[in-house]
Amino acid sequence: MSESDQLAASSNEARHATEGNGKRSKNRKKLAHARTERFRRAYSQIGRERVLQPDNDKITLSGVVALAAENRSRRPMFEVVFKGLTLSIGKKKLLQCVTGKLSPGRVTAIMGPSGAGKTTFLNAVLGKTTGYKKDGLVLINGKSGSMQSYKKIIGFVPQDDIVHGNLTVEENLWFSACCRSSKGMSKSDKIIVLERVIGSLGLQEIRNSLVGTVEKRGISGGQRKRVNVGIEMVMEPSLLILDEPTTGLDSASSQLLLRALRHEALQGVNVCAVIHQPSYTLFNMFDDFVLLARGGLIAYLGPISEVETYFSSLGIKVPERENPPDYYIDILEGITKTKMRGHAAPKHLPLLWMLRNGYEVPEYMQKDLEDINNVHELYTVGSMSREQSFGDQSENADSVHQNVREPYSLLDRKTPGVLAQYKYYLGRVTKQRLREATLQAVDYLILCIAGICIGTIAKVKDDTFGVASYGYTIIAVSLLCQLAALRSFSPERLQYWRERESGMSTLAYFLARDTIDHFNTLVILLLFGLSSD
Ligand SMILES: Nc1ncnc2c1ncn2[C@@H]1O[C@H](COP(=O)(O)OP(=O)(O)OP(=O)(O)O)[C@@H](O)[C@H]1O
Ligand SMILES: [Mg+2]
Repeated sequence: MSESDQLAASSNEARHATEGNGKRSKNRKKLAHARTERFRRAYSQIGRERVLQPDNDKITLSGVVALAAENRSRRPMFEVVFKGLTLSIGKKKLLQCVTGKLSPGRVTAIMGPSGAGKTTFLNAVLGKTTGYKKDGLVLINGKSGSMQSYKKIIGFVPQDDIVHGNLTVEENLWFSACCRSSKGMSKSDKIIVLERVIGSLGLQEIRNSLVGTVEKRGISGGQRKRVNVGIEMVMEPSLLILDEPTTGLDSASSQLLLRALRHEALQGVNVCAVIHQPSYTLFNMFDDFVLLARGGLIAYLGPISEVETYFSSLGIKVPERENPPDYYIDILEGITKTKMRGHAAPKHLPLLWMLRNGYEVPEYMQKDLEDINNVHELYTVGSMSREQSFGDQSENADSVHQNVREPYSLLDRKTPGVLAQYKYYLGRVTKQRLREATLQAVDYLILCIAGICIGTIAKVKDDTFGVASYGYTIIAVSLLCQLAALRSFSPERLQYWRERESGMSTLAYFLARDTIDHFNTLVILLLFGLSSD
C-alpha cells in the first residue's frame, strides 16, 4: 500500500472512526487505531491553533516575527532585497532599475498593465534569467548568491495550473508534502500540514476527487487553481511566489485564498503574488504593493496603507467608488486623464518614484527631468521618507533583521533522498497507470494483433529461427520500447519540469517510471510471444 493510499484510507478512517471495525483482524485494528490516532492528533492540533490564532488583520509585524520565531526550526525567514535590477533581451528593456525588497511575514501584491513585466519580475527574483542580460543585485538575507540554491524552501505557483489530472486532490498534495518537506519530518507532522492546507484552501469537499484533465473533467477550474497553490503550501516554503493565483476565481474563493496566504505570512513566510483587478476588499488584504509601469519600471513599492497618500501627494486622487489599484493602472495606461502637480505626466511616475526615494536615475531618463517643474516640491510635499516607504517594517527592522540573519541557515533543509523519493514516485506511477487501464488494454490489444499477424506471416519454428526472425523480433521490441517511451514522458512534460525546478530528484522520477515501464514491457513481450506462436 503506498503512502497516499494509506493516507486516503486513514482519512476515511478518521471520518468514520466510530463505524464498525468488528470484522477486522487484531493487527489491522491496531494499525487502523494508530492511523486514526494520528488524524485525531492532527485535528486537535489544528483546533488548538485556530483558538490561539490571533486576528490576522490586527497582528503587527513584531507579532509576526514572534510567531515566526516559534516556527523557526522549520521555517527560516527569507528576505529578498533587489537593487537596480535591470533585465533586457537584445535592445528591449524588460525591467529597469528595480529597487526594493520583499519582506518575510508580509503579503505583497504585484500589479501593473498587461505586458508591464510582472512575470519577468518574478522570474528575475527567482533567478530564472537564462537568455536575458541581467544587471543589478539580488540579496537574500543580506547576502548575494544564486537563488537556485534555495529552491528547496521556495514555493513557486506558476500562472498555469500544472497538476496531475489522474490523481486526487489529496494525492497531489500528499505527494508534494512527502517529497519536498524536511527529511526528518514525522508523518504526523506532514498530516497536520496537509490537513491545515486542505482546510485553509477549502478543499475538504473534493479531497478525494480526481483533479481531471482537459479530456476528462474533474474538479472545477477554481478548485484546480487552489490545488495548484496547495502543492506549494504543503512543503512549508519560506518564500512563496504566485503568478496570478486569483485569476478565474470568484470573489469568495479569492478571499479564501488570500486568507490562506495571510496565514502563511503569519508564520514568517515571505509571500508575493501577481494579481489582476482585485476587489477593494481583496486589495486591502495585502500588506505591500508593487505597481509596475510598462517597460518594467516601478511606479510604487511600499505598504498598501501608504499608497493613497503617496499618489495624492502627486495630485492623483482616487475618485469615490473607484478601486485604487484599477485607477492607478488606468492613469499609467493613459486611459484616465488627470492633472498632476508640477506639470508631471503619468509617464513620469517611475521617475518621480526614483527621485522620491533617492535612487540613481539612469542616464537615458535624465532628459525627462527637464519636463517636470518643481520636482523638489513634488517629492517632499506629503512625503514619506524612504524608510517609511517600506512601511512599519522600519520600526521593527532590527527585530526582523536579527531574525532573518540568525542561525537557521536557509540551506539547512534536507529533503528525502533519491531512494525515498523513488518509493513515493513508484507508488504514484503505479496508481496513475492503473487509472489508465483502458489505454493500457488498447496497447495490449494492438500488440496481440501485431503478434498474431507477424506470427502468421513468418512461419518459423525453433529450429528454423533465422536472420529474418531476429529482424522481426528487433522491430517488435523497438516498437514496444517506443510505446513505453512515449507513455513515459510526453503527457507529463510540464509536471516533470515543475517538479525538477522545485528541487525534486530527476533520477528518482525516471527510475520509477522505468521500473513500471520495464515491468510493462515484460508483460507485453509475453503477450506478443504467446500471440505470435
Ligand atoms: N523571452 C522573452 N523574449 C522577448 N520578449 C519577452 C520575453 N520575456 C518577456 N518578454 C516581453 O516582456 C514584456 C513583459 O512580459 P511579462 O510576461 O513579464 O508581462 P506581464 O506583466 O506578466 O503580463 P501579463 O499580465 O499579461 O501576464 C512583454 O512585452 C513580453 O513580450
Ligand atoms: Mg504574466
